[in-house]
Amino acid sequence: MGILDGKVAIVTGAGQGLGRVEALELAKHGASVVVNDLGTDGAGGGSSEEPAKAVVAEIEAAGGKACSAFGDVADWDAAQRIVATAVDTFGDLNIMVNNAGFSRDGMIVKMDEDQWDSVIRVHLKGHFCMIRHTMGYWREKSKASGGEPLYGRLISTASDAFMMGNVGQPNYAAAKGGITYLTLSAAREVQRFGATANIVLPRARTRMTMTGPWASIFDEPEEGFDTFKPEHCAPVVAWLAGPNASNVSGNLLQVWGRQVRVFAPPVPALDHVNDEDWTVEELDKVLGGFFAGKEPIEDSFCLPMS
Ligand SMILES: NC(=O)c1ccc[n+]([C@@H]2O[C@H](COP(=O)([O-])OP(=O)(O)OC[C@H]3O[C@@H](n4cnc5c(N)ncnc54)[C@H](O)[C@@H]3O)[C@@H](O)[C@H]2O)c1
Repeated sequence: MGILDGKVAIVTGAGQGLGRVEALELAKHGASVVVNDLGTDGAGGGSSEEPAKAVVAEIEAAGGKACSAFGDVADWDAAQRIVATAVDTFGDLNIMVNNAGFSRDGMIVKMDEDQWDSVIRVHLKGHFCMIRHTMGYWREKSKASGGEPLYGRLISTASDAFMMGNVGQPNYAAAKGGITYLTLSAAREVQRFGATANIVLPRARTRMTMTGPWASIFDEPEEGFDTFKPEHCAPVVAWLAGPNASNVSGNLLQVWGRQVRVFAPPVPALDHVNDEDWTVEELDKVLGGFFAGKEPIEDSFCLPMS
């Protein structure tokens, strides 16, 4: 018996990289998996049905159940068709893993409109379209059963790039911040169905991280533990999709290597109630005192590893 026997999952952007290993992992635990992918290049250009079909073949060769759903997650109608594929082929939809995306990095001062729009579209609108149509299906299912709790898991993919901001990725960081707050809002809304919504923050060696200024961080080591093998991230997605995570909702889980971190909601670094109404002079005393001696933001790569 697998923990996901009888469950139906969609994984978007599952033709390679993190989505591929997540689809394989869900299938290994018994889920029937709809493998979505548009088959783009690393900057979102072109399209091909082949990557998704190849992953379906891998899942079937390992004894699992899968079908492919070619399509653009950020296209409203295509997203609806991907959801319908799960229901029509496997009879239900329980687990929605949003993962598809690409990056088009650049400094703000050099970024053009298309770089901004395309990255916001694929990540933020892509997550919204898939979550929206999944929740539409769950709403109908819940109504038809007279409000019986259903088995539902929304799993979104953000990045620690959004938490601290990232030089050269303002579009990507903004999209991932949007995904986080979209998913936290969805977590509150899907409670009424008995479903959950969470966010994973992975770091892995994939096409996306094999180029760019930080590519060498992700290099496969000649010996020893391979921290950035994408396979390390997949079990966290399967666990969130599983029955023992039914009380886990509205959380951010960061995973790479053998490390997993659960982030607490933001807490104030200063919490001060003044005796007087605020004036610039009063703020200078309170905030000026708080920030005295602190350095401006550092130009570092996201969050450090421990
Ligand atoms: N690799 C990392 O370290 C890392 C870190 C943080 C977040 N992420 C996120 O993980 C996710 C997967 O990234 P990856 O590193 O595996 O990249 P990847 O390039 O290997 O895979 C992304 C997949 O998404 C597909 N895709 C692109 N646009 C699509 C669209 N409109 N509709 C459907 N499919 C589409 C591509 O064809 C590709 O197969 C992304 O959301 C990425 O932002 C990755």
